[in-house]
Amino acid sequence: MKTRHYFGALDALQEGQFSIRELGNRSVGATLHQGKPVVVLNFCPHAGAPICRGKITASQYTDAAYQLHLDAEHPVLRCPWHGWEFSLESGGLHFESRLHLAFLEYELDGTDLYVWI
Ligand code: FES
Repeated sequence: MKTRHYFGALDALQEGQFSIRELGNRSVGATLHQGKPVVVLNFCPHAGAPICRGKITASQYTDAAYQLHLDAEHPVLRCPWHGWEFSLESGGLHFESRLHLAFLEYELDGTDLYVWI
């Protein structure tokens, strides 16, 4: 059964950077993406790194002419241990469909962010 935990004030969150809290014996990270909260378990599905300590950066893609492009509209979270990049929107990897960030359910009460774990 999940329990509701207070994470903090919504206006304390920043785009491009995770805030990390210990809630219910779990490490949880929250950030903003396009003004909306993104809340994930601070645990990389590859090998358990504290993934919220990784860097949020623009995703990259190569076009048909092998030109590299950056896409800041669709950021990724780069794991601090092995550099795998997970979509901040879908939680997935572009090369492996079975591993995902563990998004957590949250709710806003006024300007306060609560997380269900
Ligand atoms: S532990 Fe995250 S990519 Fe390996």
